[in-house]
Amino acid sequence: MEFVDTIEAIRKLVPAEQANGKTIGLVPTMGSLHVGHVSLMKAAVARCDFVVVSIFVNPTQFGPSEDFDKYPHDLEADMRMCEEAGVAVVFAPSVGQMYPEKNITWVTVDEITDKLCGASRPGHFRGVTTVCAKLFNIVGADFAFFGQKDAQQAVVIQRMIADLNMPIEIVVCPTVRCESGLAVSSRNTYLSDPEKKDAALLYAALRRCSKLFTEGCRDSGKLIEAMRETIGASPKIQIEYINITDSRTLEDVDVIKGNALAAIAAKVGPSRLIDNIVLGLDEGG
Ligand code: PAJ
Repeated sequence: MEFVDTIEAIRKLVPAEQANGKTIGLVPTMGSLHVGHVSLMKAAVARCDFVVVSIFVNPTQFGPSEDFDKYPHDLEADMRMCEEAGVAVVFAPSVGQMYPEKNITWVTVDEITDKLCGASRPGHFRGVTTVCAKLFNIVGADFAFFGQKDAQQAVVIQRMIADLNMPIEIVVCPTVRCESGLAVSSRNTYLSDPEKKDAALLYAALRRCSKLFTEGCRDSGKLIEAMRETIGASPKIQIEYINITDSRTLEDVDVIKGNALAAIAAKVGPSRLIDNIVLGLDEGG
């Protein structure tokens, strides 16, 4: 496995592989890698001949009061995980490489970025789409792998590549969970054991929603009420939103026809956690 930290170096490596007819997969990450990221790497290795993992804590997607400065880092452990997963190259540029000057060119996706997480994180998705557009341009991959865990991010990126005709295909991989059902996240490292127990209620609520849906309930109001009740079992969870939306437009739906996204964001102790499932498509998200 190779390690590169400059745009120049990655731009030499990838075209040499493409010239040999290899398909290129990209797994964009912010490091602090865990089994969720590993599942994306494995999906990429299974689908592509040559896999690049980018590790870059992107400052432009963090709000001023968010955790950019204390976002967990462990490059050595990250490298081991990438190597074990069969990754060919780790691309870990510095902020100076990615943003040599104050950034004044942005990729913005309208409408779907104002909803769900976008409502409380103004500018977040603009940072995500801009850095992903940059990474896609830099690496030139055929496929990029994203997690369903960040459902809105995956929808926004898919819309960006469709609207801008970017020559890359997005593969969305299922959410990897702890035994308790809690979705694995780099931000779980901020949680104490009792907080982790509380945090598992997010998925318990989604499971309850899924069960009611399977039993025939299509009334979003009732499903949301049931999820609020489950999460309400812990007074320590502050719900930011619980929504049932169209899985493409992210518009709220009152009565579910076909499939829909059930999505939750909540603060548990110091961490803001998100989770979701797709009703009518799968049970586990
Ligand atoms: P990061 O939070 O590091 O996540 C990188 C990728 O891993 C995302 O596509 C995310 O959805 C996926 N992922 C995280 N936890 C997962 C889990 N439990 N199961 C499956 N996939 C999981 O998302 C970002 O970084 C950034 O916004 C990025 C796209 C890299 C742009 O900066």
